[in-house]
Amino acid sequence: MDKKYIAEPYRIKMVEPIKETSRQEREMLLKNAGYNPFSLKSEDVYIDLLTDSGTGAMSQEQWGAMMVGDEAYAGSRSFFKLESVVKNITGYQYFMPVHQGRGAEQVFLPQLVTKKGMYYISNIHFDTTRAHVELAGARALDCVIEACFDIDLDHPFKGNFDCVQLEKIINSKGEENIAGIIMTITNNSAGGQPVSMENLRAVKQIANKYHIPTIIDGARYAENAFFIKQREKGYENKSIIDIAREECSYADVFLMSAKKDGLVNMGGIIAIKDNEELFNKCKVTVIPYEGFPTYGGMNGRDMEALAVGLMEALDERYLRHRIDQVRYLGDKLKAAGVPIQYPIGGHAVFVECKRFAPHIPSYQFPALSVTNAIYLEAGIRAVEIGSLLLGRDPDTHENKVSEMELMRLAIPRRVYTYKHMDVVAEAVIQVYQHRHELKGYEFVYESPILRHFTSTFKPVEKKL
Ligand code: F0G
Repeated sequence: MDKKYIAEPYRIKMVEPIKETSRQEREMLLKNAGYNPFSLKSEDVYIDLLTDSGTGAMSQEQWGAMMVGDEAYAGSRSFFKLESVVKNITGYQYFMPVHQGRGAEQVFLPQLVTKKGMYYISNIHFDTTRAHVELAGARALDCVIEACFDIDLDHPFKGNFDCVQLEKIINSKGEENIAGIIMTITNNSAGGQPVSMENLRAVKQIANKYHIPTIIDGARYAENAFFIKQREKGYENKSIIDIAREECSYADVFLMSAKKDGLVNMGGIIAIKDNEELFNKCKVTVIPYEGFPTYGGMNGRDMEALAVGLMEALDERYLRHRIDQVRYLGDKLKAAGVPIQYPIGGHAVFVECKRFAPHIPSYQFPALSVTNAIYLEAGIRAVEIGSLLLGRDPDTHENKVSEMELMRLAIPRRVYTYKHMDVVAEAVIQVYQHRHELKGYEFVYESPILRHFTSTFKPVEKKL
């Protein structure tokens, strides 16, 4: 494996101080937060790896572009600038901005749910995507390859669809009941794992065979393109933008949370390849929910920053460093024996907590336990992606059991240095060495929807 990591391809012009706290203070702060890291104040966090979403640093070019934002309600100049960038990248005809990824989901996903008993199929639905599928009255089915769940297996594209399974699902549910196929690139919930071009192409062929629309969830489509360039035969010499265009060519619709590979703090995209009728339907819905179709919940200045950020995120040097920095942290953890999803994904290192804390059962949320422990250890905030996030079955209300109990260490873009990654690695390794002392958690309050955000907990005191 190439152990070289490239240095930051930028220098720092503006700094934001971060606070350190004592272990005693953190014990009190976490207790007051109901043992839910989402309820911590960011001020009380030393290194914040809760998410890579909207937490990146903008460039001087983006800040400069904000000064020329056109805040017109309708027909803003900034809209047309952004539209031309989106059309250039996707090759699609229609575009509208929305305030963030879930805004795109809220406006778009119900459009294809035309009757009761419909399904969306994805490699793995992101949690808000799943929520919007369910809110639209459909059901969300995941169909990722088995290799994804074997964290040690070295597979270059663990985010791929299982195409055999995909066809089986379509045949068993009936093609007329499949609202759409959502290609999540990279596959966040599987560990930021990429999807190969070959797989995107194969999924599109199956979709065509059964007349089902395909949708890219492109929050991290540029990182996915970089992995294709690194790992897929035939793409070594292609430019990232050309790879991105080919990704888009296998979908009919491109939904994006621009808070990731758009390099902005807020924003989202709906782009539609050529279906004018579908675009017009979205226009009707976007107005009451997000805003007039030429601003869709975004400021003119934010559209300017996004127009610049989208192109910066396709820069190969930027991407190389980005992916290297994540790999640097992952390599350190792996070398110390910490179980992680391997190969290391695009935006985060995912620690497998079923193996980290095998004495904690899924209903006591092992990944929450590890997440809370690293906060107590060093003030680092991560997030649980396991049975807590998965929630309950919408029909039976039983707790679902996640295949993997992951703690995600998501790295914000252009924010932290390699030295910060050293601090994170030390803390996780320290907790790993004392893993037998970890306790499970139980609910004090369980929120009925997207429960991981607002529920409160207490440690399980009895002997497990
Ligand atoms: N799709 C994917 C793959 C995502 O990762 C996210 C958000 C969304 C859609 C929704 O976008 O937040 O702009 O509304 N992921 C963030 C995360 C929140 O932490 O992974 P949003």
